[in-house]
Amino acid sequence: MMKEDELASAYAQVIRGRRSIRGFQSRPVPQAMLRDILELAMRAPSSLNSQPWNFYVVTGAPLERIREGNTERNLAGVPSSREFRGNEKYEGVHRERQVGVARQLFAAMDIARDDKRKRLEWVLRGFRQFDAPACIVVTYDRVLVGGDIAPFDCGGVTNAIVNAAWAHGLGCVINSQGIMQSPVVREHAGIADDQLIMICIAIGYPDESFPANGVVSERKSVDEAVTFVGFDD
Ligand SMILES: Cc1cc2nc3c(=O)[nH]c(=O)nc-3n(C[C@H](O)[C@H](O)[C@H](O)COP(=O)(O)O)c2cc1C
Repeated sequence: MMKEDELASAYAQVIRGRRSIRGFQSRPVPQAMLRDILELAMRAPSSLNSQPWNFYVVTGAPLERIREGNTERNLAGVPSSREFRGNEKYEGVHRERQVGVARQLFAAMDIARDDKRKRLEWVLRGFRQFDAPACIVVTYDRVLVGGDIAPFDCGGVTNAIVNAAWAHGLGCVINSQGIMQSPVVREHAGIADDQLIMICIAIGYPDESFPANGVVSERKSVDEAVTFVGFDD
């Protein structure tokens, strides 16, 4: 057994070290490693232990077909068709944070504000799942659609996956862009009709030379986010 301080330190190393990875080595990720990561992540808590999540782990030819379909449809201007509601347009402080991380990424990638070609290339890279060697599509049981708790549970397990992957030496980016053309993902990943597509996670060995992989995004402070109630100290 690890001592408490060693455990806390190992945990902090994973949490503080993890960042979204958007450039990958082409080296394939062994299925056994992905299985271990998912087994670990599925220890995540869920409402009433309902475990509404399911996963489609895609690589090789089916993933290439998803990349091609996503790219084709997006270039053709097909509107996005996610299977859940999003807040498409952030305003105020949320918009500021969105712009903040985009600025960091574009600076790292040397993409100028008015460079339309490079910006389009970056967006298309997202639709190609950042050319990751594998992708995990997170779905949940359609019978639970309507409540907010199953998406909440999927968020929990998704966070657990990216952290477990990091602890195994893999990088991830949770990627809305990858499932924006949901019919493409549904067809090529063979997603069952009783499953709703929640999100996907691009996963693989990080390409250490890819500049955006070094970006450490900002966080609001504990003082901004937290209200302590009833404490004496
Ligand atoms: C639900 C969700 C969807 C996301 N979709 C995208 C995406 O489509 N493209 C992208 O580059 N990053 C995406 N991200 C990654 C976020 O931009 C990233 O987590 C955030 O900027 C914080 O950076 P960090 O993960 O490096 O700490 C997504 C993250 C979440 C949680």
